[in-house]
Amino acid sequence: MTAIEHYEARRKHLASKMKGGVAVIPTAPERLRNRDAHYPYRFDSYFYYLTGFKEPEAVLVIIAASGDESAKYILFCRDKDKEREIWDGYRYGPALARETFGFDEAYPIAQLDEKLPGLLENQSVVYSAVGHDVVWDQRVAGWINAVRAQTRSGVTAPHEVSDYRTLLDEMRLIKDAHELHIMRRAAEISAQAHCLAMKATKPGRFEYEIEAELLYTFHRHGAPAPAYTSIVAGGANACILHYIENNAQLNAGDLLLIDAGCELDGYASDITRTFPVSGRFSAVQKDIYELVLAAQQAAIDQAKAGNAWNDPHQAALNVLVQGFIDFGLCQGSVDSVLESEDYKRFYMHRTGHWLGMDVHDVGEYKQQGEWRALQPGMTLTVEPGCYIRPAENVPQHFWDIGVRIEDDVLITATGNDILTAGVPKKVDEIEELMQ
Ligand code: GLY
Ligand code: MN
Ligand code: MN
Repeated sequence: MTAIEHYEARRKHLASKMKGGVAVIPTAPERLRNRDAHYPYRFDSYFYYLTGFKEPEAVLVIIAASGDESAKYILFCRDKDKEREIWDGYRYGPALARETFGFDEAYPIAQLDEKLPGLLENQSVVYSAVGHDVVWDQRVAGWINAVRAQTRSGVTAPHEVSDYRTLLDEMRLIKDAHELHIMRRAAEISAQAHCLAMKATKPGRFEYEIEAELLYTFHRHGAPAPAYTSIVAGGANACILHYIENNAQLNAGDLLLIDAGCELDGYASDITRTFPVSGRFSAVQKDIYELVLAAQQAAIDQAKAGNAWNDPHQAALNVLVQGFIDFGLCQGSVDSVLESEDYKRFYMHRTGHWLGMDVHDVGEYKQQGEWRALQPGMTLTVEPGCYIRPAENVPQHFWDIGVRIEDDVLITATGNDILTAGVPKKVDEIEELMQ
Protein backbone atom coordinates (compact mmCIF):
# COMPACT_ATOMS: atom_id res chain seq x y z
CA MET A 1 0.00 0.00 0.00
CA THR A 2 1.20 3.52 -0.76
CA ALA A 3 0.97 6.18 1.95
CA ILE A 4 -1.99 7.76 0.12
CA GLU A 5 -3.80 4.41 0.10
CA HIS A 6 -3.38 4.18 3.87
CA TYR A 7 -5.06 7.56 4.31
CA GLU A 8 -7.85 6.53 1.93
CA ALA A 9 -8.37 3.29 3.83
CA ARG A 10 -8.70 5.24 7.10
CA ARG A 11 -11.30 7.58 5.58
CA LYS A 12 -13.28 4.55 4.35
CA HIS A 13 -13.01 2.90 7.74
CA LEU A 14 -14.33 6.02 9.48
CA ALA A 15 -17.19 6.34 6.97
CA SER A 16 -18.16 2.71 7.65
CA LYS A 17 -18.34 3.43 11.40
CA MET A 18 -20.60 6.49 10.96
CA LYS A 19 -24.34 5.91 11.27
CA GLY A 20 -25.01 7.96 8.16
CA GLY A 21 -24.58 11.73 8.22
CA VAL A 22 -21.69 14.07 7.55
CA ALA A 23 -18.35 14.49 9.34
CA VAL A 24 -16.70 17.91 9.20
CA ILE A 25 -13.05 17.69 10.28
CA PRO A 26 -10.92 20.86 10.21
CA THR A 27 -7.16 20.98 10.52
CA ALA A 28 -5.52 23.18 13.18
CA PRO A 29 -5.38 26.97 12.82
CA GLU A 30 -2.09 28.81 12.53
CA ARG A 31 -1.22 30.48 15.84
CA LEU A 32 0.51 33.77 16.52
CA ARG A 33 3.47 33.62 18.87
CA ASN A 34 4.01 37.34 19.28
CA ARG A 35 2.91 40.31 17.17
CA ASP A 36 2.93 38.94 13.60
CA ALA A 37 5.31 36.01 14.14
CA HIS A 38 3.71 32.54 14.09
CA TYR A 39 4.52 29.36 15.96
CA PRO A 40 5.82 26.68 13.59
CA TYR A 41 2.68 25.18 12.05
CA ARG A 42 1.43 21.79 13.27
CA PHE A 43 -1.64 20.24 11.61
CA ASP A 44 -4.47 18.68 13.60
CA SER A 45 -3.77 15.00 14.36
CA TYR A 46 -7.26 13.74 13.40
CA PHE A 47 -7.27 15.66 10.13
CA TYR A 48 -3.77 14.52 9.19
CA TYR A 49 -4.53 10.91 10.12
CA LEU A 50 -7.29 10.94 7.48
CA THR A 51 -5.67 13.03 4.76
CA GLY A 52 -1.86 13.23 4.90
CA PHE A 53 -2.42 16.89 3.96
CA LYS A 54 -0.11 19.31 5.79
CA GLU A 55 -1.37 22.77 4.78
CA PRO A 56 -3.28 24.99 7.20
CA GLU A 57 -6.79 26.25 6.33
CA ALA A 58 -8.20 22.92 5.25
CA VAL A 59 -11.32 20.94 6.12
CA LEU A 60 -12.22 17.34 5.34
CA VAL A 61 -15.90 16.54 4.79
CA ILE A 62 -17.04 12.92 4.76
CA ILE A 63 -20.56 12.14 3.62
CA ALA A 64 -21.40 8.62 4.76
CA ALA A 65 -22.91 6.13 2.33
CA SER A 66 -26.71 6.10 2.13
CA GLY A 67 -29.03 4.10 -0.11
CA ASP A 68 -27.25 3.45 -3.40
CA GLU A 69 -24.82 6.32 -2.85
CA SER A 70 -21.34 5.33 -1.68
CA ALA A 71 -19.50 7.54 0.79
CA LYS A 72 -18.04 10.78 -0.55
CA TYR A 73 -14.82 12.51 0.53
CA ILE A 74 -14.44 16.25 -0.03
CA LEU A 75 -11.50 18.53 0.75
CA PHE A 76 -11.67 22.28 1.24
CA CYS A 77 -8.23 23.90 1.01
CA ARG A 78 -6.45 27.13 0.12
CA ASP A 79 -6.65 28.22 -3.48
CA LYS A 80 -3.52 28.63 -5.55
CA ASP A 81 -2.26 32.21 -5.06
CA LYS A 82 0.82 33.36 -6.99
CA GLU A 83 1.43 36.35 -4.73
CA ARG A 84 1.08 34.43 -1.40
CA GLU A 85 3.13 31.53 -2.73
CA ILE A 86 6.03 33.93 -3.31
CA TRP A 87 5.91 34.89 0.38
CA ASP A 88 4.76 31.73 2.14
CA GLY A 89 5.52 28.85 -0.21
CA TYR A 90 3.76 26.28 -2.31
CA ARG A 91 0.04 25.50 -2.06
CA TYR A 92 -1.57 22.53 -3.77
CA GLY A 93 -4.84 24.26 -4.56
CA PRO A 94 -8.06 22.21 -4.76
CA ALA A 95 -7.55 20.59 -8.18
CA LEU A 96 -4.11 19.16 -7.53
CA ALA A 97 -4.91 18.30 -3.89
CA ARG A 98 -7.93 16.29 -5.05
CA GLU A 99 -5.84 14.35 -7.52
CA THR A 100 -2.79 13.85 -5.31
CA PHE A 101 -4.57 12.90 -2.10
CA GLY A 102 -7.45 10.97 -3.64
CA PHE A 103 -10.56 13.00 -2.76
CA ASP A 104 -13.80 12.84 -4.76
CA GLU A 105 -14.15 16.62 -4.82
CA ALA A 106 -12.15 19.63 -3.65
CA TYR A 107 -13.09 23.30 -3.29
CA PRO A 108 -11.44 26.52 -2.16
CA ILE A 109 -11.67 26.99 1.60
CA ALA A 110 -13.32 30.39 0.94
CA GLN A 111 -16.41 28.48 -0.26
CA LEU A 112 -16.85 26.56 3.00
CA ASP A 113 -19.67 28.70 4.46
CA GLU A 114 -21.46 28.77 1.12
CA LYS A 115 -21.26 25.00 0.47
CA LEU A 116 -21.62 23.44 3.91
CA PRO A 117 -25.33 24.08 4.53
CA GLY A 118 -26.14 22.37 1.23
CA LEU A 119 -24.05 19.34 2.24
CA LEU A 120 -25.94 19.10 5.54
CA GLU A 121 -29.43 19.17 3.96
CA ASN A 122 -31.50 16.06 4.71
CA GLN A 123 -28.68 14.56 6.78
CA SER A 124 -29.56 13.26 10.24
CA VAL A 125 -26.19 13.56 12.02
CA VAL A 126 -23.30 16.01 11.94
CA TYR A 127 -20.03 14.64 13.31
CA SER A 128 -17.96 17.40 14.93
CA ALA A 129 -15.34 17.67 17.70
CA VAL A 130 -17.75 19.42 20.06
CA GLY A 131 -16.01 21.66 22.60
CA HIS A 132 -12.56 21.49 21.02
CA ASP A 133 -12.82 25.03 19.61
CA VAL A 134 -15.80 27.18 20.53
CA VAL A 135 -15.41 29.42 17.48
CA TRP A 136 -15.62 26.35 15.24
CA ASP A 137 -18.62 25.04 17.24
CA GLN A 138 -20.41 28.31 16.43
CA ARG A 139 -19.66 27.92 12.74
CA VAL A 140 -21.08 24.40 12.73
CA ALA A 141 -24.19 25.67 14.56
CA GLY A 142 -24.45 28.44 11.94
CA TRP A 143 -24.50 25.89 9.08
CA ILE A 144 -27.13 23.80 10.85
CA ASN A 145 -29.22 26.96 11.42
CA ALA A 146 -28.87 27.88 7.77
CA VAL A 147 -30.40 24.50 6.82
CA ARG A 148 -33.11 24.88 9.43
CA ALA A 149 -34.05 28.26 7.94
CA GLN A 150 -34.85 26.40 4.71
CA THR A 151 -37.17 23.76 6.19
CA ARG A 152 -40.33 25.36 4.70
CA SER A 153 -38.92 24.50 1.30
CA GLY A 154 -39.00 20.84 2.36
CA VAL A 155 -35.42 20.11 3.46
CA THR A 156 -34.68 18.67 6.89
CA ALA A 157 -31.87 19.78 9.17
CA PRO A 158 -29.56 17.47 11.14
CA HIS A 159 -31.08 16.66 14.52
CA GLU A 160 -28.00 15.18 16.13
CA VAL A 161 -24.40 16.26 16.66
CA SER A 162 -22.01 13.40 17.40
CA ASP A 163 -18.29 13.55 18.19
CA TYR A 164 -16.08 11.96 15.52
CA ARG A 165 -13.26 11.70 18.04
CA THR A 166 -15.03 8.79 19.74
CA LEU A 167 -14.79 6.79 16.49
CA LEU A 168 -11.32 7.98 15.51
CA ASP A 169 -9.74 7.48 18.94
CA GLU A 170 -10.45 3.76 18.74
CA MET A 171 -9.03 3.62 15.21
CA ARG A 172 -5.91 5.55 16.17
CA LEU A 173 -5.28 3.29 19.15
CA ILE A 174 -4.35 0.37 16.85
CA LYS A 175 -1.48 1.43 14.62
CA ASP A 176 -1.37 0.26 11.00
CA ALA A 177 1.81 -0.73 9.12
CA HIS A 178 2.35 2.78 7.77
CA GLU A 179 2.13 4.31 11.24
CA LEU A 180 4.44 1.71 12.76
CA HIS A 181 7.01 2.30 10.06
CA ILE A 182 7.13 6.01 10.97
CA MET A 183 7.07 5.35 14.72
CA ARG A 184 10.01 2.95 14.49
CA ARG A 185 12.02 5.57 12.62
CA ALA A 186 11.05 8.31 15.09
CA ALA A 187 12.12 6.03 17.95
CA GLU A 188 15.46 5.28 16.27
CA ILE A 189 16.23 8.97 15.75
CA SER A 190 15.39 9.75 19.36
CA ALA A 191 17.53 6.84 20.55
CA GLN A 192 20.47 8.22 18.57
CA ALA A 193 19.85 11.65 20.07
CA HIS A 194 19.97 10.23 23.61
CA CYS A 195 23.23 8.38 22.85
CA LEU A 196 24.81 11.59 21.55
CA ALA A 197 23.54 13.50 24.59
CA MET A 198 25.12 10.96 26.95
CA LYS A 199 28.46 11.26 25.16
CA ALA A 200 28.28 15.06 25.25
CA THR A 201 27.56 15.29 28.98
CA LYS A 202 30.39 16.48 31.23
CA PRO A 203 30.60 18.38 34.51
CA GLY A 204 30.47 22.14 33.87
CA ARG A 205 28.32 21.95 30.77
CA PHE A 206 24.85 23.48 30.86
CA GLU A 207 21.57 21.64 30.49
CA TYR A 208 20.75 23.67 27.37
CA GLU A 209 23.98 22.55 25.71
CA ILE A 210 22.83 18.96 26.06
CA GLU A 211 19.35 19.94 24.83
CA ALA A 212 21.06 21.37 21.73
CA GLU A 213 22.62 17.96 21.02
CA LEU A 214 19.15 16.40 21.10
CA LEU A 215 17.62 19.01 18.79
CA TYR A 216 20.63 18.77 16.46
CA THR A 217 20.09 15.04 16.06
CA PHE A 218 16.32 15.37 15.54
CA HIS A 219 16.74 18.00 12.83
CA ARG A 220 19.68 16.26 11.19
CA HIS A 221 17.46 13.25 10.52
CA GLY A 222 14.52 15.23 9.17
CA ALA A 223 12.39 15.29 12.31
CA PRO A 224 11.17 18.90 12.32
CA ALA A 225 10.44 19.26 16.03
CA PRO A 226 10.47 17.57 19.41
CA ALA A 227 7.16 15.85 20.18
CA TYR A 228 7.06 17.84 23.46
CA THR A 229 9.42 20.25 25.19
CA SER A 230 12.56 18.37 26.16
CA ILE A 231 13.31 17.88 29.85
CA VAL A 232 17.05 18.10 30.58
CA ALA A 233 17.25 18.03 34.35
CA GLY A 234 20.51 17.81 36.29
CA GLY A 235 20.66 16.84 39.98
CA ALA A 236 17.69 18.03 42.04
CA ASN A 237 15.95 19.36 38.91
CA ALA A 238 15.13 15.74 38.04
CA CYS A 239 12.67 15.76 40.95
CA ILE A 240 10.60 18.46 39.17
CA LEU A 241 8.51 16.27 36.89
CA HIS A 242 7.87 18.90 34.19
CA TYR A 243 11.19 20.76 34.45
CA ILE A 244 11.84 22.55 31.14
CA GLU A 245 14.01 25.56 32.09
CA ASN A 246 17.07 23.53 31.06
CA ASN A 247 19.41 26.34 32.09
CA ALA A 248 21.43 24.97 35.04
CA GLN A 249 25.07 23.93 35.05
CA LEU A 250 25.80 20.22 35.46
CA ASN A 251 27.74 19.16 38.53
CA ALA A 252 30.13 16.22 38.89
CA GLY A 253 28.51 13.64 41.12
CA ASP A 254 24.93 14.48 40.01
CA LEU A 255 22.65 12.49 37.75
CA LEU A 256 21.17 13.94 34.57
CA LEU A 257 17.61 13.00 33.60
CA ILE A 258 16.68 13.56 29.94
CA ASP A 259 13.10 13.07 28.73
CA ALA A 260 13.02 13.90 25.02
CA GLY A 261 11.72 12.54 21.76
CA CYS A 262 11.28 13.78 18.22
CA GLU A 263 8.12 14.06 16.16
CA LEU A 264 8.48 12.57 12.69
CA ASP A 265 5.78 12.95 10.04
CA GLY A 266 3.20 13.56 12.74
CA TYR A 267 4.25 10.74 15.10
CA ALA A 268 5.80 11.11 18.54
CA SER A 269 8.55 9.24 20.29
CA ASP A 270 9.15 9.59 24.02
CA ILE A 271 12.34 8.41 25.74
CA THR A 272 13.76 9.04 29.20
CA ARG A 273 17.24 8.09 30.35
CA THR A 274 19.01 8.98 33.56
CA PHE A 275 22.80 8.79 33.83
CA PRO A 276 25.71 10.19 35.86
CA VAL A 277 27.13 13.55 34.75
CA SER A 278 30.70 12.32 35.27
CA GLY A 279 30.13 8.90 33.73
CA ARG A 280 30.06 6.71 36.89
CA PHE A 281 27.11 6.05 39.21
CA SER A 282 27.75 6.41 42.94
CA ALA A 283 26.68 3.44 45.08
CA VAL A 284 23.45 5.06 46.23
CA GLN A 285 22.59 6.37 42.75
CA LYS A 286 23.14 2.87 41.42
CA ASP A 287 20.83 1.39 44.07
CA ILE A 288 17.96 3.68 43.08
CA TYR A 289 18.71 3.39 39.37
CA GLU A 290 18.71 -0.40 39.41
CA LEU A 291 15.48 -0.44 41.40
CA VAL A 292 13.77 1.69 38.73
CA LEU A 293 15.30 -0.46 35.99
CA ALA A 294 13.97 -3.63 37.65
CA ALA A 295 10.54 -1.99 37.96
CA GLN A 296 10.63 -1.08 34.28
CA GLN A 297 11.59 -4.64 33.29
CA ALA A 298 8.76 -6.04 35.42
CA ALA A 299 6.33 -3.66 33.69
CA ILE A 300 7.62 -4.49 30.21
CA ASP A 301 7.19 -8.20 30.97
CA GLN A 302 3.49 -7.50 31.63
CA ALA A 303 3.01 -5.42 28.47
CA LYS A 304 1.50 -8.16 26.32
CA ALA A 305 -1.73 -8.87 24.49
CA GLY A 306 -4.55 -9.99 26.74
CA ASN A 307 -3.16 -8.36 29.86
CA ALA A 308 -5.01 -5.37 31.29
CA TRP A 309 -3.75 -1.81 30.73
CA ASN A 310 -2.98 -1.53 34.44
CA ASP A 311 -0.93 -4.75 34.76
CA PRO A 312 2.40 -3.13 33.80
CA HIS A 313 1.79 -0.29 36.27
CA GLN A 314 0.94 -2.72 39.06
CA ALA A 315 4.05 -4.81 38.30
CA ALA A 316 6.27 -1.71 38.45
CA LEU A 317 4.65 -0.56 41.68
CA ASN A 318 5.21 -3.91 43.40
CA VAL A 319 8.94 -3.78 42.61
CA LEU A 320 9.32 -0.11 43.57
CA VAL A 321 7.45 -0.45 46.86
CA GLN A 322 9.54 -3.46 47.91
CA GLY A 323 12.64 -1.39 47.11
CA PHE A 324 11.40 1.63 49.05
CA ILE A 325 10.90 -0.64 52.08
CA ASP A 326 14.33 -2.29 51.66
CA PHE A 327 15.99 1.15 51.49
CA GLY A 328 14.12 2.44 54.56
CA LEU A 329 12.20 5.03 52.55
CA CYS A 330 8.83 3.45 53.40
CA GLN A 331 7.87 1.38 56.44
CA GLY A 332 5.60 -1.66 56.67
CA SER A 333 4.66 -4.41 54.24
CA VAL A 334 4.28 -4.09 50.48
CA ASP A 335 0.51 -4.45 50.88
CA SER A 336 0.27 -1.80 53.60
CA VAL A 337 2.38 0.70 51.63
CA LEU A 338 0.29 0.08 48.49
CA GLU A 339 -2.86 0.52 50.58
CA SER A 340 -1.75 3.75 52.27
CA GLU A 341 -0.19 5.04 49.03
CA ASP A 342 2.81 6.20 51.06
CA TYR A 343 4.93 5.31 47.98
CA LYS A 344 3.49 8.41 46.26
CA ARG A 345 6.07 10.52 48.13
CA PHE A 346 8.62 9.00 45.71
CA TYR A 347 6.55 7.75 42.76
CA MET A 348 3.56 9.96 42.02
CA HIS A 349 2.83 9.34 38.34
CA ARG A 350 1.56 6.37 36.38
CA THR A 351 3.79 3.96 34.48
CA GLY A 352 2.83 4.96 30.95
CA HIS A 353 0.38 6.26 28.38
CA TRP A 354 -0.68 5.53 24.81
CA LEU A 355 1.77 6.90 22.26
CA GLY A 356 1.05 7.89 18.65
CA MET A 357 0.44 11.12 16.79
CA ASP A 358 0.08 12.81 20.16
CA VAL A 359 2.67 12.05 22.82
CA HIS A 360 -0.15 11.35 25.27
CA ASP A 361 -2.15 9.69 22.55
CA VAL A 362 -5.89 9.19 22.25
CA GLY A 363 -7.80 6.09 23.29
CA GLU A 364 -9.74 5.07 26.38
CA TYR A 365 -7.86 3.38 29.19
CA LYS A 366 -10.99 1.80 30.68
CA GLN A 367 -14.03 0.25 29.06
CA GLN A 368 -17.24 -0.32 31.03
CA GLY A 369 -15.31 0.56 34.16
CA GLU A 370 -12.55 -2.04 33.63
CA TRP A 371 -8.96 -1.45 32.50
CA ARG A 372 -8.97 -2.41 28.84
CA ALA A 373 -7.02 -5.38 27.45
CA LEU A 374 -3.81 -4.74 25.53
CA GLN A 375 -3.96 -5.75 21.86
CA PRO A 376 -1.39 -6.18 19.06
CA GLY A 377 -0.81 -2.84 17.33
CA MET A 378 -1.17 -0.72 20.46
CA THR A 379 1.82 1.47 21.32
CA LEU A 380 2.54 2.75 24.80
CA THR A 381 5.32 4.01 26.99
CA VAL A 382 6.70 2.21 30.05
CA GLU A 383 8.22 4.82 32.35
CA PRO A 384 8.55 4.15 36.06
CA GLY A 385 10.59 6.56 38.17
CA CYS A 386 11.70 7.52 41.64
CA TYR A 387 12.04 11.11 42.88
CA ILE A 388 13.45 11.75 46.34
CA ARG A 389 13.12 15.28 47.68
CA PRO A 390 14.83 16.37 50.90
CA ALA A 391 12.62 15.60 53.91
CA GLU A 392 13.21 14.91 57.59
CA ASN A 393 12.06 11.29 57.46
CA VAL A 394 14.21 10.48 54.41
CA PRO A 395 17.85 9.35 54.86
CA GLN A 396 20.01 12.24 53.62
CA HIS A 397 22.17 10.23 51.22
CA PHE A 398 19.06 9.75 49.00
CA TRP A 399 18.18 13.44 48.79
CA ASP A 400 17.73 15.03 45.35
CA ILE A 401 18.07 11.78 43.42
CA GLY A 402 15.55 11.64 40.57
CA VAL A 403 15.48 8.72 38.15
CA ARG A 404 13.10 7.80 35.32
CA ILE A 405 13.58 5.23 32.57
CA GLU A 406 11.16 5.35 29.65
CA ASP A 407 10.82 3.24 26.51
CA ASP A 408 8.27 3.05 23.71
CA VAL A 409 6.67 -0.36 23.41
CA LEU A 410 4.61 -1.98 20.64
CA ILE A 411 2.29 -4.81 21.65
CA THR A 412 2.73 -7.72 19.21
CA ALA A 413 0.99 -11.06 18.75
CA THR A 414 3.69 -12.82 20.74
CA GLY A 415 4.73 -10.23 23.34
CA ASN A 416 6.15 -6.82 22.68
CA ASP A 417 8.73 -4.95 20.71
CA ILE A 418 10.76 -2.15 22.32
CA LEU A 419 11.00 0.55 19.66
CA THR A 420 13.57 2.55 21.63
CA ALA A 421 16.02 -0.27 22.38
CA GLY A 422 18.77 1.68 20.55
CA VAL A 423 19.75 3.63 23.65
CA PRO A 424 21.42 1.73 26.50
CA LYS A 425 19.98 1.55 29.98
CA LYS A 426 22.02 -1.03 31.90
CA VAL A 427 24.50 0.56 34.31
CA ASP A 428 27.61 -0.95 32.71
CA GLU A 429 26.40 -0.12 29.17
CA ILE A 430 25.80 3.51 30.10
CA GLU A 431 29.15 3.80 31.87
CA GLU A 432 30.88 2.29 28.87
CA LEU A 433 29.17 4.62 26.37
CA MET A 434 30.18 7.63 28.45
CA GLN A 435 33.88 6.75 28.58
N1 GLY B 1 7.39 13.29 28.03
C1 GLY B 1 6.07 13.18 28.49
C2 GLY B 1 5.84 11.94 29.19
O1 GLY B 1 6.77 11.20 29.44
O2 GLY B 1 4.75 11.59 29.50
MN1 MN C 1 5.89 9.47 28.45
MN1 MN D 1 8.66 11.19 28.43
